[in-house]
Amino acid sequence: MKTEIVWVDREDMDDGMLRRAGEILREGGLVAFPTETVYGLGADALNEEAAGKIYAAKGRPSDNPLIIHIADWEALEGVVREVPEVAVRLSEAFWPGPLTMIFHKRDCVPYGTTGGLDTVAVRMPSDEIARELIRQGGGYVAAPSANRSGRPSPTAAQHVYEDMEGRIPLILDGGEVEIGLESTIVDLTEGCPVVLRPGFISLEMLKGVIGEVKMDQGLLRSDDVARPKAPGMKYRHYAPRAELKIVEGTQEGVVSYINKKVQEDSDTGIICTEETRAFYPAGHVKCIGSRKDVRSIAHHLFGILREFDEDGVSRIYSESFDSPGLGQAIMNRLLKAAGHQKILVKEKDTQEEM
Ligand code: TXA
Ligand code: MG
Repeated sequence: MKTEIVWVDREDMDDGMLRRAGEILREGGLVAFPTETVYGLGADALNEEAAGKIYAAKGRPSDNPLIIHIADWEALEGVVREVPEVAVRLSEAFWPGPLTMIFHKRDCVPYGTTGGLDTVAVRMPSDEIARELIRQGGGYVAAPSANRSGRPSPTAAQHVYEDMEGRIPLILDGGEVEIGLESTIVDLTEGCPVVLRPGFISLEMLKGVIGEVKMDQGLLRSDDVARPKAPGMKYRHYAPRAELKIVEGTQEGVVSYINKKVQEDSDTGIICTEETRAFYPAGHVKCIGSRKDVRSIAHHLFGILREFDEDGVSRIYSESFDSPGLGQAIMNRLLKAAGHQKILVKEKDTQEEM
C-alpha cells in the first residue's frame, strides 16, 4: 500500500481532501491526522473490523483499548450509558482539548474498540483538522497515537510516515502539534475520579474544577505492587533504542556526573536544557527546551527521543524535569522511556542508582 501525505492548511481547509479522508474512514479504512496532543491513527470507532486494522498497523496488543474522538458535545450520549455531573463540569472547563474521560459504554461500541472492556474512553480534540475529519468520518473516530507500538508518540507527520509507511493509505499533515504529550485520562466510572495518565491538564487543574481527584497508584511506582489501571500504561513505551537514564540532583552535580560518563564513552547522548547547554563540551548534546517554559520541554520530548534513534548512540543521559503540573506528565513519559532507571546524584562524586 502506498502511503500519501497531504498538507492541510488549518486557515483554509481543503474540503475535498477532508471529504476524501472522511470517506476512507466511513469505508472502514485508516487515516492519520494531527491533534493538539500528538498525531492519531483514526478508524471508525463503531466498526469492529476497522478498529482491528488499527491494532494490526500499530502492532498493538489487542487488550489495549482505544480512545473515541468526537467533534460535538451531543455525540457523547451516543456512546456512553450515562454522563455524570463531574463530566459535564470537566467538559465545560477542558473540552475541546487534551482531556480524555472514561465512562460506561453503550452496546453500540464494539469490544474490538474497548479492548474487551465495558468502559469507553472519549475525548473531544480542539485541533480543527481533527474535528473536521471526525465530522466527515461519521462522528466517532477511534484513534491511538499514530506510532508503531512501543515507539515514541508522533508529534509531526514525518514521524507518522517513519512508522506507518506502507501500512496506511493517508496521513493528513497539519505541521507540528501544539502540546507534544498525549491527553490526560480521568476515569469517572468509580466513586472518586482517578487520573490514569497525567497530561497537559494537571491534577491541580482538575481539582480546581471538581474538587476531589486521585492519582492512580500504579502510576507512581515502578514495581508490581500496584498495576496501572489504563492497560496501555503497563507497557514499556516511548522507548528509544539506546539505554536511557535520568539523572537527578543539583544542577552542578548532574552536569558533572553526565560529563564524566561522556568522558568514558563519547558516543553518549545528553538531554539538557537551555540553562545547562553551555556546560556540556562533548557528547551528542540535545537541548530539549527551557526550564522557564516547561511547555517547550513537553513539546520536544518525543521528537528528541526519535532523533537519538537516528544518531545511533548507545546510551543517553537526561536531566530530570520533576516540577509540579506539566512536569509530572513529562516525568511520567521520560521514566517510561527510561524503564524507570533513575540516578540520584547526592553530592558531586557520590551517586546512587535507584
Ligand atoms: O492525546 C491522546 O490521547 C492521543 C490523541 C491521538 O488523541 N491518543 C492516545 O491514544 O494517546 P493511545 O491509544 O496511545 O492511548 C490511550 C490510553 C491507553 O493507555 C489505554 O490503555 C487507555 O488510554 N484507555 C483507553 N480506553 C480505556 C478504558 N476504557 N479504561 C482504561 N484505560 C483506557
Ligand atoms: Mg500511544
